[in-house]
Amino acid sequence: MNPNYQLPIANYQLGLIGYPLDHSLSPRIHSAALKSCGLAGDYSLFPIPPEDRQALQALLARVRSGDIRGLNVTIPHKQSVVAFMDDLTPTAQAIGAVNAMYMRGNKLIGDNTDAAGFLADLKKVNKETGAQGNKSALVLGAGGSARAVVYALLNDGWNVTLAARRLEQAGQLAKSVASYRLQVTSYETFQPSTLQLLSGQAFDLLVNTTPLGMTPNIDQSPLPENILLPKDIMIYDLVYNPRETKLVRDAKAQGCRAATGIGMLIEQAALAFELWTGHTPPRTALYQAI
Ligand SMILES: NC(=O)c1ccc[n+]([C@@H]2O[C@H](COP(=O)([O-])OP(=O)(O)OC[C@H]3O[C@@H](n4cnc5c(N)ncnc54)[C@H](OP(=O)(O)O)[C@@H]3O)[C@@H](O)[C@H]2O)c1
Repeated sequence: MNPNYQLPIANYQLGLIGYPLDHSLSPRIHSAALKSCGLAGDYSLFPIPPEDRQALQALLARVRSGDIRGLNVTIPHKQSVVAFMDDLTPTAQAIGAVNAMYMRGNKLIGDNTDAAGFLADLKKVNKETGAQGNKSALVLGAGGSARAVVYALLNDGWNVTLAARRLEQAGQLAKSVASYRLQVTSYETFQPSTLQLLSGQAFDLLVNTTPLGMTPNIDQSPLPENILLPKDIMIYDLVYNPRETKLVRDAKAQGCRAATGIGMLIEQAALAFELWTGHTPPRTALYQAI
């Protein structure tokens, strides 16, 4: 036997619950994480339709038994799994959604790494592009990912304007975070009011959390055509498929700093991997995998 050979400390069974999962990049990211950390294991996809609670509970039983070390959670289960957790981390509790779960002692813990993943990547991009500190952000959309983004920005000291087509949805989000630094306004994708929104206030950051521009609708943008963006604004588009969205392309064409959400995807995955294994995967290996 090769004296340098070390038995792996464990066989890490990891995976993702969601529906559908056909185009998920997570298996590639986590397989690269396992490999680069020298760990044995697999990352499996568990496509479970929203109505199949039996399959969901059977899978969670495998986490409880230790058969599965950790699970990611994506649409449409991020909010519905909350009810099945024994405990939530304060972040998951505040966001009202779980994107990663694991056992601690005899408790099944629901966690959320989307907020920290978003913030980590935003800071990285800002550092690379020489942006100044925290100021004022406009967040478009008020769905699941907006909850994580708003939570992250408020905790990082930003003033946030949340713009949604359904004010009721934005109002619910605002109620759950209850911060005087958050205000809510209405947003209609192709309406002049969107132009007024952008020109009326000096935003330093615009975050798109709507799915506009996502494959196959790659010619869509959450902003009206030919909108003149403030010169110093940073555009962060959570959509990462395609790799360069129309929003990011248009912003760059005007000389603005802009990034898609691929970095957030990598960061939230790396943070979940750390919670499951205690190992920090090198980010370069993860980027190379996708
Ligand atoms: N980079 C990452 O790691 C990451 C993480 C999470 C999500 N994402 C991406 O973020 C996007 C949103 O995901 P999500 O989970 O937040 O979805 P979601 O819960 O469905 O929320 C989407 C939000 O966008 C709004 N919206 C949809 N179409 C709109 C339109 N035409 N005009 C105005 N508003 C519109 C929705 O309003 P209604 O409720 O009225 O439809 C809702 O407020 C997806 O593309 C997803 O892939 C990326």
